[in-house]
Amino acid sequence: MISSTLLFSSVEEDLRLLTENLKQLVGARHPILYAAAEYLFGVKGKRVRPAIVLLVARTTMPNGKISEKHRRLAEITEMIHTASLVHDDVVDESELRRGVPTVHSRFNNRVAVLAGDFLFAQSSWHLANLDNLQVVKLLSEVIKDLAEGEIQQGLNGFDTSLSIEAYLEKSYYKTASLIANSCKAAACLSEVSEALAEDFYSYGRNIGLAFQIVDDILDFTASTETLGKPAGSDLKSGNLTAPVLFAMEEQPYLEVLIEREFAQEGDLEQALALVANSRGIERSRELATHHAHQAVEYLAPLPASESRQALIDLADYVLSRLY
Ligand code: IPE
Ligand code: IPE
Ligand code: MG
Ligand code: MG
Repeated sequence: MISSTLLFSSVEEDLRLLTENLKQLVGARHPILYAAAEYLFGVKGKRVRPAIVLLVARTTMPNGKISEKHRRLAEITEMIHTASLVHDDVVDESELRRGVPTVHSRFNNRVAVLAGDFLFAQSSWHLANLDNLQVVKLLSEVIKDLAEGEIQQGLNGFDTSLSIEAYLEKSYYKTASLIANSCKAAACLSEVSEALAEDFYSYGRNIGLAFQIVDDILDFTASTETLGKPAGSDLKSGNLTAPVLFAMEEQPYLEVLIEREFAQEGDLEQALALVANSRGIERSRELATHHAHQAVEYLAPLPASESRQALIDLADYVLSRLY
């Protein structure tokens, strides 16, 4: 696997400052929420989203100089992302995140709901303070999309008629919208042309889709230990992702098992075996690769630079998590 540290080396120092700042920004007015936030930002995630924002900033600013507003935007994206994870873990009843117990299991559901809300509210406030209406619009749409995605996923549980298109739409709402809109917002802060801002949006959209498909594959193929969150949980909870959707085309009995919600003993194990004995994983990989390649094509209009190259490498990094 490509090391993310190496990949993000041109923004490594910026990312270190970001983590420090996030803890400060969240503020200390409510001890319990502060404890929850501090706890969350204390264990680092991969920080893919702020890294992308900082790289887009470097690619689009004169002399590659990242502005204070870009830095703040990077922090906001990580705040929104973290808030969505805290709520996602409550909805999924997931016990582990970033290798440590989730907020709701460390504290309780009430604290987790409030801590997530608190982070969303904080991010909106910092967003408004960027004093850029277009950027406010882009990122507030993301917060709306995250809720939409979570709702769609909830409604579609164990629904074997779900199409790949509907799955991708949900993945856009849950994951790609944040990356796409924050890429575009970073480009807007650099005052690039509307056309170039759209290219960055499309780059982020495709990176985001590839990222979610890879996450969904890893849920089948990786261990809880390497993921730092419970593996094998999507199918069990009825969240039908790319590997199963493809597998169902070859293994119709999967539908029977899913529709009775794995009610009989051995159902889940049998379903997992059917997925493993299909081209589900392979076809999902192809789909992720397709989106990663699409992403890179949108960078074609940019002149060669170290940060543009890092954005290209990032597409490989997303895929390399599979190997
Ligand atoms: C997890 O995101 C949720 C998905 C969109 C798949 P990350 O894999 O970026 O999580 P962290 O921030 O590194 O923990
Ligand atoms: C992405 O989807 C989560 C959010 C964007 C909130 P998942 O539900 O697959 O994320 P994990 O697997 O719990 O990290
Ligand atoms: Mg989840
Ligand atoms: Mg997942």
